[in-house]
Formats: sequence, C-alpha cells, structure tokens
Amino acid sequence: MTDSLDGTTAFVTGASAGIGRASAHALAREGADVALAARSEDELEAIAESIRTEYDVTALVAPTDVRDEAAVEGAIEATVDELGGLDLLLNNAGLARGTSVEEMSTEQYRTMMETNVDGMFFTTRAALPHLRESAGTLVFIGSFAGQYPRPFNPIYAASKWWTRGFAKSVSAEVGSDDVAVTVINPSEVRTEFGAVYGETFAERFDEGEVTEPEEIAEAVVFAAEQGPSMASEIDLYRRDKFELFGKFGDES
Ligand SMILES: NC(=O)c1ccc[n+]([C@@H]2O[C@H](COP(=O)([O-])OP(=O)(O)OC[C@H]3O[C@@H](n4cnc5c(N)ncnc54)[C@H](OP(=O)(O)O)[C@@H]3O)[C@@H](O)[C@H]2O)c1
Repeated sequence: MTDSLDGTTAFVTGASAGIGRASAHALAREGADVALAARSEDELEAIAESIRTEYDVTALVAPTDVRDEAAVEGAIEATVDELGGLDLLLNNAGLARGTSVEEMSTEQYRTMMETNVDGMFFTTRAALPHLRESAGTLVFIGSFAGQYPRPFNPIYAASKWWTRGFAKSVSAEVGSDDVAVTVINPSEVRTEFGAVYGETFAERFDEGEVTEPEEIAEAVVFAAEQGPSMASEIDLYRRDKFELFGKFGDES
C-alpha cells in the first residue's frame, strides 16, 4: 500500500466487476476510503472484505441501481455521512445491449440509455456539491466507441459519445470551482463486458491481447492524483487498435 490518496474518499459505480472492481482496489491501495456501488450486493460484500483485508482503509458497500435516482442520492449521501466527504466519483457502471438500430427493441434501448446516460447524470448531480467542497475529481469511463463512428450497435456507441460530451461540458461548468473532470476511453478490456457479442471480453481475449482492467484502474488513480491541473482525457487502447479499426471496426 502507498499513500498518494491517503485521507480521500471515492464512490465507485459498477464496483462489482471489471474496471470498477479493479479501480476500487487501486484507489484503496493508494489509501482512499471507498464506497462500492452496483446491484450485486454479494459481490460487493466480498470485494469490500478483500479490500479491508488488503489495505488499511474503510470499504463501504452501497447496493445501488444507477437507474434509480433516489437510490443514487441516498447512496452518495450515506457515503458522505460515513466517510466524511467525497473526493472522487468514478462514473463507470455501464452495459452494451442490442445490435443494429432496426433490430433493437425499445426495452433494450431504454435499459442501455437509463444505465449509461441517466445513471451518469444522477450520480454526477448527487456528487457535484460534495466535489465542489473538496475540490475533487469526477472520472467518467467513456470508450473508443465514443470517439469514432462504427458500423454496429450504434446506440451503445452514442451513449458513450454522450458520456464524453457530458463530461466535457460539466468540466466547463465546474472547472472554476476547482473540480477536475477526466474521461478515460478504453478500447477492449478483459472484463465481463461484451456478452452481447456472444462471449465476454475476458473469455474472448487471452491475457496480453487487449487491455487489462488493472491498466484502466491505474489511469483512474492517475486522474485522482492530479492537481492543481487535471487529466482531461486519457485514451488507453490496445496497441494494434488503429490497424484493426481500419480493418474491422470496433466493439468496445
Ligand atoms: N470492457 C470493455 O471492453 C470496455 C471498453 C470501453 C468502455 N467500457 C466501459 O467500462 C465500463 C465498465 O465496464 P466493464 O468492462 O467493467 O464491464 P463489466 O465487467 O460488465 O462490469 C459492469 C459493471 O456495471 C455495473 N452495472 C451495470 N448496470 C448497472 C446498474 N443499473 N446499476 C449499477 N451498476 C450497474 C455492473 O454491476 P451489477 O450488475 O452488479 O449492477 C458491473 O459492476 C462501462 O461503462 C463500459 O461501457 C468497457
């Protein structure tokens, strides 16, 4: 354990798996107290326990569906009460559902937009007053899919363009209050993500082939450590991404 984030507190959405779980570990390793938010309470309990065992920090379990604004507000208020403030919001919870526009059901569309778009709005709105107080950091997990056009699952891609556009505009709104805003754009990461494409990315890619969740977690830590400047945007791509992009498009 090191101490670059000693005495700080972080609220992590999507903390029950993948990038969120790895980030919660990395933030705790640097000394941050963490609140773990997602729907799978059992997974969150197990992750909190392993964080408490490994690092000398507080790990709170905050079972939350990010689509439920009252639940989001309650979880962030409870975190601030119990941990004494909020220095970092990691807006990470997200999913990919559906395929082409014509094949996409309204239910799939709504679920994805409520999670990837509404969820990020609810958490940001609830956290901002506290981040203004702490001169804290707001980190969004965007995507390569939110930076370049691609030929499939355009609703998911558009939700990530929204994330990036929202993050940049929020940054314009709150920068003068000393709140840092960072967007991290990964290409494929080996997590539970991607089941919609037939198998998860952890199953589909071998170690070393694409990005590991721990690499994204280190970018989150880097963003949290900056000051007085901020890391506005961090692109973390597999090294052959641009060659593949030219050949096949993108699924991340
Ligand atoms: N993996 C990639 O290749 C990749 C690439 C670019 C961007 N991203 C982005 O990275 C973020 C994290 O993805 P990941 O790769 O770590 O995927 P993952 O392993 O599937 O994890 C997704 C996380 O989001 C949570 N989540 C989903 N719906 C939720 C809801 N309604 N309320 C609260 N939490 C919810 C899940 O928890 P519960 O199911 O327990 O609620 C889980 O913890 C997403 O925003 C994704 O778009 C991923």
